[in-house]
Amino acid sequence: MTTVLHANPRQFISTDFTKQIVRRALRYLQSGFAIHLRGPAGTGKTTLAMHLAGLVGRPMVLIYGDEDLRSSQLVGSNSGYSRKKVVDNYIHSVLKVEDDLRQSWTDSRLTLAAKEGFTLIYDEFNRSRPEVNNVLLSALEEKLIVLPPDSSQTEYVRVHPLFRAIFTSNPDEYAGVHPTQDALLDRMITINIGEADVETEKQILVNRVGLDRTQALKLINLIRGYRRQVECSKASSLRACLLIGKICHEHEIPVSGKHEDFRDLCFDVLISRYGNGEPESELGLAKLLDQIP
Ligand SMILES: Nc1ncnc2c1ncn2[C@@H]1O[C@H](COP(=O)(O)OP(=O)(O)O)[C@@H](O)[C@H]1O
Ligand SMILES: [Mg+2]
Repeated sequence: MTTVLHANPRQFISTDFTKQIVRRALRYLQSGFAIHLRGPAGTGKTTLAMHLAGLVGRPMVLIYGDEDLRSSQLVGSNSGYSRKKVVDNYIHSVLKVEDDLRQSWTDSRLTLAAKEGFTLIYDEFNRSRPEVNNVLLSALEEKLIVLPPDSSQTEYVRVHPLFRAIFTSNPDEYAGVHPTQDALLDRMITINIGEADVETEKQILVNRVGLDRTQALKLINLIRGYRRQVECSKASSLRACLLIGKICHEHEIPVSGKHEDFRDLCFDVLISRYGNGEPESELGLAKLLDQIP
């Protein structure tokens, strides 16, 4: 059974930074185009996609890109044979089972969304193998989904005019992602999402975790400083900020380099994420922590 989501359950924090992305994305969606949010991990792409789908106002369905995803899972599949059981109400001993050998077809999330005019979020779509995503080419361009010959249904599904698609992806240099096909990219509008500004990160920390503004700012500067030091450009700092911030808040650990618990927490979270395995990356973090009163 496909779960259709109706609203964004998580609180979305709007700032000037997010508002200008939302404005552009919504404009494209309103004109009927598929959009693609591309950027490093932790830049808020999935959250933004859910928020946008909420603004579109239609029910949404969510698919996660996956190496093992098969095209049948994207289009739909035969889920087995349907069997008819007939019970005779007058003669209780009579129970007739008819096998009419009809395969029952189950729509995939994509097919359901396309038929009903829902909003599809295909998160990290370039984790799926490119050939699996081919079905999207005609869905976006000719507004048709071609069903396999054995689907015992009509041959194709016409895409509902209200159907919208929001894709997210991590850039090609990430492990476990496939290069995105040019033909698919050509059928969507790609918005590059960079690291949020300090103000946005601060507001997310304050609102989502409950840190006060001064502590939030200290934490953001520490993590950004450390990432600069180890020249880490991959993941953004937002997830690490939220993680450390939540633990500090819940365990009353002050954001201070003088506090042993805070230092341990930073080492545990930051070295494995951003450190390059060299002893200097530990030394560098210790030095940065020394500077936080
Ligand atoms: N605008 C926002 N409002 C509230 N929380 C946000 C916002 N942007 C990101 N977050 C939070 O930051 C974290 C990372 O965001 P996520 O959308 O998962 O990033 P990505 O999909 O780019 O990896 C999540 O915990 C998410 O809830
Ligand atoms: Mg994501």
